[in-house]
Amino acid sequence: MASTSRRFVPPHPPRNAGPVPVWRGFVGERARTAVYGWSERAFSLPHIKRKVFGYNVLIPLEPDAVQRVLLDNAANYVKPDIVMKLLRATIGRGLLSSDGALWRDQRRIVAANFAPAAIDALVPVFARAAGAADLEAGVRDMAAAATATTMRIIADALFAGDARLISAAAMDHITAALEGVSEARLQALLGLPLMPWSLKGKRARRGQVYLRETLGRVVAERLPGGGPDDFLGRLIRALFDKFPDEEALALAVDNAATFYLAGHETTANAITWTLFLLAEQPELQAEAAVEAAAALAAGEDDADLPERLPLLRRILEESMRLYPPVPRFDRQALAADRLGDAAVAAGDIVSIWPWLIHRHRALWDDPDAFDPERFRPEAKAGRHRFQYLPFGGGPRLCVGARFATAEALTVLAHWLRAWSFAPVPGREVRPSGMVTLRPAGGLPLVLAPR
Ligand code: HEM
Repeated sequence: MASTSRRFVPPHPPRNAGPVPVWRGFVGERARTAVYGWSERAFSLPHIKRKVFGYNVLIPLEPDAVQRVLLDNAANYVKPDIVMKLLRATIGRGLLSSDGALWRDQRRIVAANFAPAAIDALVPVFARAAGAADLEAGVRDMAAAATATTMRIIADALFAGDARLISAAAMDHITAALEGVSEARLQALLGLPLMPWSLKGKRARRGQVYLRETLGRVVAERLPGGGPDDFLGRLIRALFDKFPDEEALALAVDNAATFYLAGHETTANAITWTLFLLAEQPELQAEAAVEAAAALAAGEDDADLPERLPLLRRILEESMRLYPPVPRFDRQALAADRLGDAAVAAGDIVSIWPWLIHRHRALWDDPDAFDPERFRPEAKAGRHRFQYLPFGGGPRLCVGARFATAEALTVLAHWLRAWSFAPVPGREVRPSGMVTLRPAGGLPLVLAPR
């Protein structure tokens, strides 16, 4: 436990004692919230097997088995057809939604943009956006503030600050596009065509079209040649060097959409959950605020700022353990395999669930309790690399992991130095979301200047 905090168990969805039937996953809260409806047993089994509309789904929960899927036998586990179908309309065949040689070529092309030196150079961009956030004393929705801030950062860091990507309209469209994915998932599982048949589906479709059209224009304005030497310019030039013009153009828009979407919602959720956990623990928050003030006093814009925030980093890491911004991600087996005691057949879906693994009884002491001390270097050294997976693992590890961590630490440090955050009395906080994990209905907190 941290020196000044008492045992604190933040909220999680209710758990039944026994297994929950698969159909329950498609009605009520479980259909809106991936982490809802798991039984107590799910957090102590070596793996879970289910049959979902004709698909065999295996959920490995032992770190060795997870390592086999993501690293040791990674070539056998590709992104599932059904997930690709869902994502194609929005992010095409970009880095996140391609496999094989096309994935490898794109990963190589973007890697340089995410090298440590490139991220270090972004600390001033993170700081500027943190300072520009619309915060004032009183009740503020910190989930909305975090989303606006990370959206601005991705636009500034990757798209030369294009105003079309940070407008209120852009934000509404993105939210609708992401919310639509959960509905589309159900349709895809049922084998139905991906038609926008409900109001939510229609709004999601409009959101996707807005995003594709806007980014299509942003890319087209850079042609020929790609324009300035920034992320987008380098991406466009490298793609046109490697691929025929038409394909290069399509991939430039696909990756612009990929990075725009993958690059802000997730980090916003990490920041939001961390603020929630700190609001609930005022003494720990005060310690983190002292550390933030000292770290910023030693230099606001320098690349080492995130290194001067060891306590805040541990808190962020523990926050992503309890509330992983990406609570699950999927693969499909190309050929038969064995994962621990479980047989996998060609075509089976293998789902990796940070939500279950991060709270697994066999892997963590007092797994539902908040304890940032778990992330001291000595404690980390004793653990399996594949039992903590907020950014995935293996060759497809999140390419933005370092970016996101430096970004979240910088933004949190600025906000904690300026403000204290307290819960709104009587307001319940509940995790929600199918693709990313966020507090249902936002996160209103009471802000007071420090
Ligand atoms: C706290 C914030 C973030 C979390 C929790 C997160 C989580 C993840 C996870 C779990 C994966 C792997 C998915 C899989 O293996 O199927 C992933 C991949 C990816 N992430 Fe992140 N991410 C975050 C921030 C970012 C940022 C800031 C960017 C870009 C600026 C980004 C871009 C990507 C991309 C492009 C991929 C696909 C990589 C590949 O397949 O080669 N992410 N992320």
